Amino acid sequence: MRRLLALVLALALPACSSAVTAREPVHWVWSGAVTPDSAVVKAKLDPQEGALRLRISGREIAPDVDDVDGVAVFRLDGLTPATRYDYRVLWGDSSFLDGRFQTFAEGPMSFRFVFGSCARTGSNHRVFEVMESLEPLFMLHMGDFHYVNIGTNDPARFRLAFDEVLASHRQSSLYRSAPIAYMWDDHDYGPDDSDRTNPAKPAALATYDAIVPHYPLELHDGKPEDVHQAFTVGRVRFLLTDGRSHRVPDDAPDGPDKTMLGATQREWLLDEIEAARGRYSLVVWVNTVPWVTERGSGDGWGRYDWERRYIADRIRNAGMVNRLLMLSGDGHMVAIDDGTNSNFATDAQPGERGFPVMHAAPLDRYARHKGGPYSHGKAGRRVLFGLIQIQQFGLAEIQDDGNILEVTLSGRNESGDLLEGMSLRLRCDASGCLPLN
Ligand SMILES: [Fe+2]
Repeated sequence: MRRLLALVLALALPACSSAVTAREPVHWVWSGAVTPDSAVVKAKLDPQEGALRLRISGREIAPDVDDVDGVAVFRLDGLTPATRYDYRVLWGDSSFLDGRFQTFAEGPMSFRFVFGSCARTGSNHRVFEVMESLEPLFMLHMGDFHYVNIGTNDPARFRLAFDEVLASHRQSSLYRSAPIAYMWDDHDYGPDDSDRTNPAKPAALATYDAIVPHYPLELHDGKPEDVHQAFTVGRVRFLLTDGRSHRVPDDAPDGPDKTMLGATQREWLLDEIEAARGRYSLVVWVNTVPWVTERGSGDGWGRYDWERRYIADRIRNAGMVNRLLMLSGDGHMVAIDDGTNSNFATDAQPGERGFPVMHAAPLDRYARHKGGPYSHGKAGRRVLFGLIQIQQFGLAEIQDDGNILEVTLSGRNESGDLLEGMSLRLRCDASGCLPLN
């Protein structure tokens, strides 16, 4: 009888969710905002159950923030650079959920990270286990963390969406084994193709701020207006832009008023890129949507051509084209362009390289190709006309001896194997970064 009941229950459960049975008082924990000497850990306890503590480095600490919905925020300062920290969530006399992170080095650092976007809500696919097995320094998530497509200004719905993803055994295990750096895209910010008119925007912003362990956000009257953020690992500067919160609807006519980033965020990005000159070996711009798209058409920057050209001109004028790498998601494909097709600066000469661009998606979703052409092509088999989900991600390996910094980018399948032709090496020295293949 018990077996029959278990079988009925198993059949009734949605195929995409993980097998969470008994509800533990501690729902989830994850970390982020790591620097050489600090990190943030956020954990959720059933709101009825009182307070959590965190054990780390032999100390037990109380949360800095304990919100009404049970999310505890632990801000960890005074940490030692380049050191592994293990943490454990404590509640009463019991302990739940272990996690770990490594602080970044203060000088040049060799490291690897995994990156990707787009997973069906609460996916428990083994691709997340494969990513975890690579022991990345962090996981860079480039959007579509879920596909709940919330169009009402209701924080409770966003919180539930996070809970659903973090209840996935394999995803939450990955996020406990490595800190996250996360930029949203349309489906996890609002409905499909959402922009600044999304009625759910205030709830999306507030919930992101409360639940995600993120780097500092720019606040206006105490509140974020988007979730752009930046961080540094060794000699690499990461800039994550929010392409949704200020986005003018894509059917508006193109021109100086049509923006994907909003003027303030765009200036922040360009100031950062200009200030990086002579300071960092490489700048990684995490821009979620396709950059290489035909003018005036398709998804991504093609319909924001004025702004794309403006950004490309500023990057060229700053002499930073050969210090920049763009990482993107959105298109459910792995695609690499070595700079052959990515130069959208005014009067770009034939053969004048842009910066390299790599897409890495989907983590667990249907194949869908966007943009191009890409020098290395696109990978992402369409199974049954694209109706079956596939799993892909990106791996970046950085070797830095303090003089030469080398980046090896590769696209991986669900087993972690190299997708044919999907790799690119960059070698950065005092004069800039050049593709090696
Ligand atoms: Fe997606």
